[in-house]
Amino acid sequence: MPQRLGVNVDHVATLRQARRTTYPDPVTAAAIAELAGAAQITIHLREDRRHIQERDLRVLRQTVQTLLNLEMAATPEMVKMAYEHKPDMVTLVPERREEVTTEGGLDVNAQKDTIQKIVKNLKDGDIITSLFIDPDVDQVKASHKVSADRIELHTGRYCEARTEKDRQREFNRIVDASKTAGKLGLGCAAGHGLHYENVRAIAKLPEIDELNIGHAIVARAVMVGFDRAVREMVEILRNP
Ligand code: PXP
Repeated sequence: MPQRLGVNVDHVATLRQARRTTYPDPVTAAAIAELAGAAQITIHLREDRRHIQERDLRVLRQTVQTLLNLEMAATPEMVKMAYEHKPDMVTLVPERREEVTTEGGLDVNAQKDTIQKIVKNLKDGDIITSLFIDPDVDQVKASHKVSADRIELHTGRYCEARTEKDRQREFNRIVDASKTAGKLGLGCAAGHGLHYENVRAIAKLPEIDELNIGHAIVARAVMVGFDRAVREMVEILRNP
């Protein structure tokens, strides 16, 4: 089974917010992505609202035909937001105002009680709950302990590795973490920094069933169009 592609449309909103216009609309991008084979639409509603706005979440909840995955900080305000809009899935991510993008995974052990409470809360609302963590076996085990349904492995360090040796080491961490998730019965996704080349090795890992990819797809869409950019990624996941 090919991995499912979640298309992250945040950066369509980044372009819109750069001029505070009404275009390009992430809602339109999401519809094109779905028609081109995306299995999921992913958005991150950040505290500073630098790209996705509440309006996008509201409209996407009404228009997404596949699954809507909301990435959000593990805070009571965001849990309220999730209850109000009912995405199909929530991915809890760490969030720091000054970061350019999500820099590391959640430290599940360090915030065990808070995360456990939020996971339970979301699951009680019939929302699938995933934790965005570094590819670290202890973090996978901690995610299982707090009863998350799924995890998403942070592929940033693998993608940013400068040498083959570093890349291989980071890749091995992803392999080990995904195997542990498989053994524990945790659903396993991966994402961050993946592009049309470095995705191939990740797309071959059997325990990973979903990839969330944003920047590379939106960047390619600027050149070749959104439909083609998504289709090309879907094709790679079919034949990595
Ligand atoms: N998955 C998660 C949890 C993320 O926070 C992000 C970035 O918003 C992505 C996937 C997509 O990363 P990229 O834009 O680098 O493909």
